[in-house]
Amino acid sequence: MTVFLNGNYVDGSAAVIPVTDRGFIFGDGVYEVFRSVDGRLFEGERHQERLEEGLAALRIAMPEAAHGGALREIAARLLEENGHSRGHATVYVQITRGAAPRAHQFPADDVRPTMFVTTSALNSLEAVRSAGAVVITQPDVRWYRCNIKTIQLLPNVLAKQAAIESGGFEALFIRNGMVTEGTHSNLFAVLEGEVRTHPDNNLILPGVTRSVVLELAAELGFPVREEAITEEEIGQVDELFLTGTTTDVLPIAQVDGRHVGTGSPGPVAGQLYEALYRRMHEGRD
Ligand SMILES: Cc1ncc(COP(=O)(O)O)c(C=O)c1O
Repeated sequence: MTVFLNGNYVDGSAAVIPVTDRGFIFGDGVYEVFRSVDGRLFEGERHQERLEEGLAALRIAMPEAAHGGALREIAARLLEENGHSRGHATVYVQITRGAAPRAHQFPADDVRPTMFVTTSALNSLEAVRSAGAVVITQPDVRWYRCNIKTIQLLPNVLAKQAAIESGGFEALFIRNGMVTEGTHSNLFAVLEGEVRTHPDNNLILPGVTRSVVLELAAELGFPVREEAITEEEIGQVDELFLTGTTTDVLPIAQVDGRHVGTGSPGPVAGQLYEALYRRMHEGRD
């Protein structure tokens, strides 16, 4: 497996960073996951924009190789060398503030950010998609800047692990009685004829798939409202579904052991998944 590390293409097993890297010490960095369909990056510009916004929010200097054109070339080469340029794959990009003696404040300006890129084949979720995902709720104990895609994901890791240990697929975060999002996905509901999702603010990651699904829902003529559903409303919705770069549109069948709607994947999620799939294969990026 070839990876890109600070300007070099190396075998993953030979890619080395200093133990003083601030990503390792402080989780001081951002990441991005691009979706590749037959070697093309789906909605690549939106992912690129979010990466740039994350770097700016943390005041990490943008490496030359992270600029759109350069990053596309890196992605294309890795997808090709790793045998991922056919079918569905992901391109993972991580940029940290770089290696420096441990001190909380930012290091001197001459410290260069660390940039790492790798690719993976995408696991199929077809079995979960056709049965509907089983999810649990977990308290949202994250910070107030969830809109930045930082590599600090411990609350997400612990909540996802709880979901897996309970036999489920994903955990939904609850903050102040509101459902915010999943550990690696955004949440949508269908309630009283409307498609609802949490507003784009500091309490959720502004998912690229979320934006695309909002556009598709409008195109399909579904009334859409960006307002969070409450924990109580989970019991009243007709449908719930997750969206994400690796999950697409994934219907939810059960939350905390209770059926959602009929307990089977619903028609709105089905139509949106089909529309998303069509758009992915249209060659838009
Ligand atoms: C916390 C969180 N919310 C939502 C998403 C979905 O975002 P996207 O559609 O851009 O993959 C992710 C993706 O990893 C995530 O980590």
